[in-house]
Amino acid sequence: MDKAILFREEIEDLKIYEPGRPISEVKSEFRLEEVIKLASNECPYPPFPETIEAIKEDISEANRYPDNGCFVLKEKLAEHLNVKTQNLVVGNGSSEILRLIALAALKPGDEAIIPHPSFIVYPTITKLMGGVERKVPLENYRHSLNEMLNRINDKTKIIFLCNPNNPTGTIFYKSEVENFLDKAPRNILVIFDEAYFEYVNDNRYPNGIDYLKNFKNVIVLRTFSKIYGLAGLRIGYGIASKKIIEAIEKVREPFNVNMLAQLAATVSLEYKDEVERRKKFNEEGKTYLYQQFESLGLEYVPTEANFILVDLKRDSRKTFEDLLKLGIIVRPGDIFGYNTHIRLTIGTPSENKKFIEGLQRVAGCRSQVTSRTGVSPVKKFQ
Ligand SMILES: Cc1ncc(COP(=O)(O)O)c(C=O)c1O
Repeated sequence: MDKAILFREEIEDLKIYEPGRPISEVKSEFRLEEVIKLASNECPYPPFPETIEAIKEDISEANRYPDNGCFVLKEKLAEHLNVKTQNLVVGNGSSEILRLIALAALKPGDEAIIPHPSFIVYPTITKLMGGVERKVPLENYRHSLNEMLNRINDKTKIIFLCNPNNPTGTIFYKSEVENFLDKAPRNILVIFDEAYFEYVNDNRYPNGIDYLKNFKNVIVLRTFSKIYGLAGLRIGYGIASKKIIEAIEKVREPFNVNMLAQLAATVSLEYKDEVERRKKFNEEGKTYLYQQFESLGLEYVPTEANFILVDLKRDSRKTFEDLLKLGIIVRPGDIFGYNTHIRLTIGTPSENKKFIEGLQRVAGCRSQVTSRTGVSPVKKFQ
């Protein structure tokens, strides 16, 4: 007799991760020559030229396993961040480190406090471990750190903080988080997910690393997937007390970070000017898109990252599908509970222009003309 395979009940309600649609798939589905992807907050530019050269040379050694301890990269990162190598862990993307933290820390019934909406991985890994998700809604698109404090109880094990927050691009400030850390019990892990750290301009932005000395319960996560343009290689890292790092190391797979990723990250850290250049391009793209949204009468959430949440006052799924047919991939806001928004990654100048033209076509929005009385006509879609 056939018996159904029984999987753990924790995974029954988990949803399969839905990534941004790949370019090749959209090209073939809609028979398009040119498709742009502004859906996954990737860097629109390739890895640094020196990084590409180094990888080409290194590939001939792929018959060997990678360095399990990421020795060279950790030395370089330690210097770059002014921390000790014993305070570093490297992962197959920072997503892997998030998962390893959950694996090391959560047992069934433990609670995690999670901002909502935020990075989709936090609730997934919590539920995977049989943990309980305590969602704290954003207030005016920002983390409500006070409300997060109010939700702490004896079962709280982890608090996820996403700064800048994905999908809103908003940040919380030094003053807010210092008060938060002072009040949060020290046996709760506080995760600062700083995937977009390098893009931030606001001087009220807290650098999570500054709190590691006084708060042994803090772990900071960063990635090479964004400004360094290495998303396809999968590499990110965590910085924390030796105790936290050791716990994560115990549950880490051997050889989790491939050799090309390790080398690419190590080489890329040399090129600080290139990081600055890409940040500047991002700022220019942001300024262009803000101007366009303003002239189209569209509301957007000012961002500190490389993506923008825009309210089109129009069904987000429909906008997503209409743009897809024009070869423009964005993220529909409904997956985050924003049913009339889309989230778009800031692209190259030509990608940003193509997006705005596409938006005007699908949403029928036109630039606002100031009327003779000097009063702007109402923002509208036709
Ligand atoms: C907030 C946040 N954290 C982590 C990640 C994952 O980055 P990685 O590619 O390093 O796994 C992302 C990716 O989009 C993100 O938005």
